Amino acid sequence: MLKWIIVGIALLLTAIAMVPIAVTYIEKQQARDNAEKLAHAKNVNQSEAKTAVIVFSRSGNTAVLAQHIAQQWQADFYRLEASDYELGLKGWTNAMQDARSIRTEISPRQIDLSAYNTIYLGSPIWLYSPAPPIWAFVENNNFQGKHVVFFNTFNSKFEQTYIDQFKQLLLDKGAISFEHRHVKRGRMGQQISTEVMLEIYDNYPSKNVNNKIE
Ligand SMILES: Cc1cc2nc3c(=O)[nH]c(=O)nc-3n(C[C@H](O)[C@H](O)[C@H](O)COP(=O)(O)O)c2cc1C
Repeated sequence: MLKWIIVGIALLLTAIAMVPIAVTYIEKQQARDNAEKLAHAKNVNQSEAKTAVIVFSRSGNTAVLAQHIAQQWQADFYRLEASDYELGLKGWTNAMQDARSIRTEISPRQIDLSAYNTIYLGSPIWLYSPAPPIWAFVENNNFQGKHVVFFNTFNSKFEQTYIDQFKQLLLDKGAISFEHRHVKRGRMGQQISTEVMLEIYDNYPSKNVNNKIE
C-alpha cells in the first residue's frame, strides 16, 4: 500500500513539474511566430504622431496587437523590456512570483509623452492582474491631460478590481479618460489565431477616443 502511495505522489509531483516546462515551451513557440510578425516593429518615433502605443509583452501576442493598433492610428510604437521576465523557466517563475506586484525594472523607464493626446497601453494579464511592467511604466511617467486606452490579451480570466486600480493610478497620474479593451485568447492548446485576435479587437465599436470622457 505504502509503495502505491509513494508512486502516486511521485507521479503527481512529476505532472506538476511538467506544467511550467510545457507552458514555457509553448510560450517560446508563440514568441518565435510573433517575432516574424513583429519583424518590422522597431520602436518608431514619428515626429508628427499625436498617438503613442506602448506595450509590454512577454511572448509577443500583445505586441502584435499593439503593432496593429499603431498601424491603424499611424502612432509611435514603443515596446517595454523587463529583463526579469524573459522567456524560459526562470522568467516564468519570476513572473508567477511577481504577478501581483506593481513595481519592477523596465526599459525604457520613462518616455516623453508630451507630444501625444492619446496613449494606448498594452499588457498581458498575469494572475488576473495587468503584468507588473505596465504598472511600473504608469508609476514612472506623467499622464497629465492624456486620453488612455488600455488593452490586454489574456487566456481565460482577469479581475475587474485590478483594472479599476490601474485606472485609478492613471487618473492619479493626470489621465483625463480611460477605456479598457481586452481579447481573450483561450486556454493553451485551444487558442484563437492571431488573425481572429485582431478581428475581435477591431470589432470594438470605433470611437473617437479623444472625445471620450469616462
Ligand atoms: C505568469 C503568467 C500568469 C498568467 N496569468 C493569467 C491569468 O491570470 N489569466 C489569464 O487569462 N491569462 C494568464 N496568463 C496568460 C497570458 O495573459 C496570455 O497568454 C497573454 O496573451 C500573453 O501575452 P504576451 O504574449 O503579450 O506576453 C498568464 C501568463 C503568465 C506568463
